[in-house]
Amino acid sequence: MSIVRNVESRHPARAAGPYATYAQLRGRGPILWTTELFGGAWLLTTHEAVQAALRDSRLSAQRTGGWVMRNSTRGSERRRELVALQRLFARAMLFVDKPSHPRLRQVMQAGFRPSAIEALKPFVVGSVEQLLDDMERTHSDRPCDFIECFARVLPARIIARLLGLRGVSATEFLAWSSDLAAFIGASLPDEDQTERALRSIVEMGKYFERVLRDESSFSQDGILRMLMQAQKSGQIEKGPELLAQCAMLLFAGHETTRHFLGTSIYWLLRNRAVWDAIRVDPTLVKGAVRELLRWDSPVQYTGRRANCDLELYGTKIRRGDLVLPLIGAANRDPAEYVGPDAIQIDRRVGIPLSFGSGPHVCIGASLTLMEAEVAISAIVRRWPDLDVVPESEDWIDSPLYRGLASLPLKLPPPARATRATNAAQGQSMHSGAPNECCCPHRYGGQVQTSVDRRRSDQ
Ligand code: HEM
Repeated sequence: MSIVRNVESRHPARAAGPYATYAQLRGRGPILWTTELFGGAWLLTTHEAVQAALRDSRLSAQRTGGWVMRNSTRGSERRRELVALQRLFARAMLFVDKPSHPRLRQVMQAGFRPSAIEALKPFVVGSVEQLLDDMERTHSDRPCDFIECFARVLPARIIARLLGLRGVSATEFLAWSSDLAAFIGASLPDEDQTERALRSIVEMGKYFERVLRDESSFSQDGILRMLMQAQKSGQIEKGPELLAQCAMLLFAGHETTRHFLGTSIYWLLRNRAVWDAIRVDPTLVKGAVRELLRWDSPVQYTGRRANCDLELYGTKIRRGDLVLPLIGAANRDPAEYVGPDAIQIDRRVGIPLSFGSGPHVCIGASLTLMEAEVAISAIVRRWPDLDVVPESEDWIDSPLYRGLASLPLKLPPPARATRATNAAQGQSMHSGAPNECCCPHRYGGQVQTSVDRRRSDQ
């Protein structure tokens, strides 16, 4: 019973994901031992067990040591480099406990407060519209890869803006974060993945050192400015601690959101009734975003290390053991959700475990929800007849992340007419108001085709 999917990336089993396996694992109990991941770890399979573990102070967030140990057979130079990578990353908020964690979280929290996210919204709206315009302009006569043209680019732009970076090259950003995610997401990174992650972290480090030396290269209201001030007041240490937070924000925020945007559009197009419901009533997008996050979480598990001997559900866990709360399994637990294997956008999901829980709960959750709501609303409104190129999607190979490597879309011909009508009605691309949807009036008369209905396969 493997949660590492050894099937070709376009195989239907990849699209279906690990959920049938999770159900079987859950059937065997809330906690199980596996040798499949990280040389041996405890899997937590139920909603209750996952949520409790994420709030349990006996389970430490410090877990990066395994990166080096798992690669201990490699040459001494490589090992030295891995130690350097691990030391830097181990300082990131995601991987530290009390007392450093609340200190760092307090500094970062200011950048994610509701007013900061609200202030960012016009920029998100403008960026979404601009990317969609670009897709229309460049892909009128051929399929457009949504991941490449939209899902990879938008989160990178938003994070750069949130950090307050000026004139950053999105290409560099994207490559660094992909390399780090490939390394962290692999159950046993290969030479190439390790090499790339090392190179990227070094380049990222140099980049941020350069930026932080020159105050004119970042804005007064971004997170970098806050980190600099915190450094001056002694709340955050200079050097590795500061750099680790910057690197973490880049990859934690980019990789996850990119996957989420891709899978959301994919599942909405495969569940045409849901797509149509949002088209007719745009206010449904809020519930849809939360439900899609639950249904196919971009992050399938996280990790903790036992900091003492303890017992969970009658099972003895030894100090130092690795525990993997399976977020993806928790999200489909029938004890928590009625009919968990169906997408129900009127379900009251709240904030699903996809963002974690407890002290390390995702700091970027509100930003992600806003970004996804803006993006999905704009796409459904602009391209009500959007379609996936049949049998073309390509799923990534990672037990940690769920996402698409590519998602070719056929942009429908009426798109231009839609844009023209919007423009004629004075809906500015950058006004911050295009979220006020006109769909019910404009598209309300369109009917679902039988082909659309057949596509509703979930
Ligand atoms: C769909 C999008 C996202 C998902 C599914 C997601 C998921 C998660 C999860 C599961 C955790 C908790 C990990 C744990 O407890 O071990 C987490 C933490 C975190 N996330 Fe996100 N995240 C997303 C977007 C973002 C964004 C956009 C940002 C920033 C721009 C971000 C930054 C962070 C940070 C800094 C932490 C560490 C918080 C802490 O340790 O206190 N995430 N995220």
